[in-house]
Amino acid sequence: MHIRPRRNRKSAAIRALVAETSLSAADFIYPLFIHEGSEDQDIDSMPGCKRWSLDGLLKEAGEAFALGVKAVVLFPAIGDKLKTPGAEEAWNPEGLVPTAVRALKEAIPDLCVITDVALDPYNSEGHDGLVEKQSDGSLKILNDPTVLALCEQALCHAEAGADIVSPSDMMDGRVAAIRGELDDAGYQDVSILSYSAKYASAYYGPFRGALDSAPKAGDKKTYQMDPANAREAIREVGLDEGEGADMVMVKPAGPYLDIIARVRESTTIPVAAYQVSGEYLMIESAAASGWIDGKAVALESLMGIKRAGADLILTYYAKRVAGWLAE
Ligand code: PBG
Repeated sequence: MHIRPRRNRKSAAIRALVAETSLSAADFIYPLFIHEGSEDQDIDSMPGCKRWSLDGLLKEAGEAFALGVKAVVLFPAIGDKLKTPGAEEAWNPEGLVPTAVRALKEAIPDLCVITDVALDPYNSEGHDGLVEKQSDGSLKILNDPTVLALCEQALCHAEAGADIVSPSDMMDGRVAAIRGELDDAGYQDVSILSYSAKYASAYYGPFRGALDSAPKAGDKKTYQMDPANAREAIREVGLDEGEGADMVMVKPAGPYLDIIARVRESTTIPVAAYQVSGEYLMIESAAASGWIDGKAVALESLMGIKRAGADLILTYYAKRVAGWLAE
């Protein structure tokens, strides 16, 4: 035998030399839930994650930053009283998100602060867009009026100091509209990370529990993508890139590695992947039962996402993994 692939695996030193993929804290975006209260709250549907108070947020983001996680994305839990059919709270300059953005940028100026642009936390129907009830009782998610609302929301986040706005709503044409709105207002330097290929996924369940943002009726299948489709993801990515997105995203990540790989080949701009709440919880719950080694599986799941082609990864493990990598 002349060829023995095992020679390249014979020691840790050689394995490290020939490793094709590596994980680093700098690859991660840390999703953080926030709420109005002054106490940090445990989240029943997402053990190990918290709904942070403003003080808790600054501390958590600061610790993550010190470990090398340079970016966070904020998800607000909005009180029921502030939820309206028009979702107007989404662009209240004194609202939870703009207040948190200002506080983060003041406390940690070099932290990259990303905001989520979508109406579901604010809209009394729990949909990412504005809802119109049809005569047969069904709900229609209105595209063009929603895009106008998203522009207001993105502008409000930019004014507060967000480095990147991240539309997760899947309305058509929103990237171009947001880009135009930001440019007209002088925010040419605010970036857009677009959720381009966001699937209508059951893996989002625990997240909706964290924000109490599940749709009151209907599902999200008329705007989020059908899990059956791959070519359509390439179409969505191409549109968003053409509309001015600086980075695109595939979501969820683990069950969609083929999409990540195909998207990576179809574009030259950075590709993000979101390891969503259900993916996180499947690992956490199996580990809590003692069925798997949670740390090893978490690292392997993230390595798989990176190897598939993701340049950056949104993951609830961001801070923990950064700590493990530093060990
Ligand atoms: C909503 C939004 C969702 C997630 C991020 N932004 C849920 C949804 O689309 O219903 C899910 C994230 C996760 O599950 O971790 N705009």
